[in-house]
Amino acid sequence: MTIRSIIQPDNGILRKKAIRVQSFDHKFQTLVDDMVETLLDAPGVGLAAPQIAVSQRLIVVRLQDDEESVKEFGDLAGKLFVVANPEIIKKSKELVEGVEGCLSIPGYIGLVDRHESIVITGQDRKGKALRIKANGWLARVFQHEIDHLDGRLYIDIAKKVWQPRDEEEDEVEME
Ligand code: NI
Repeated sequence: MTIRSIIQPDNGILRKKAIRVQSFDHKFQTLVDDMVETLLDAPGVGLAAPQIAVSQRLIVVRLQDDEESVKEFGDLAGKLFVVANPEIIKKSKELVEGVEGCLSIPGYIGLVDRHESIVITGQDRKGKALRIKANGWLARVFQHEIDHLDGRLYIDIAKKVWQPRDEEEDEVEME
């Protein structure tokens, strides 16, 4: 496994619409492993393939497994989600405001409205169909990552973007 470098908006790949994953072959498995390793190393809560300059519809998401996360997310804490070709098939009307940061935009965070709950479909790393219902913070992370697949960044839709102080930055997980 290899830690890949995370690109920033000066690289045009981050602004491209990524193509669907067609083949779940050996090369794809390596890509998934590298994405996971890169995410954990960053560290971050979510990563989309375009962030490592691979224009494919693939995201990985991992919630922390500390005490606080277990309290909030139960069984989902520490769980790793690998989703190819994710699609939001349902979203709540209700929007919630929250603070986000992006691994591709270091040194900044922003205030973003997201749907409170969503249902996504997609495929796991073997190509098997999957369906995930997500609320709250997890729903936010999925929306942020899926936006990356369409070349959209949180700064495009944020109500406010700012440079956090150190303590404030520590509180925001990067996606
Ligand atoms: Ni991001």
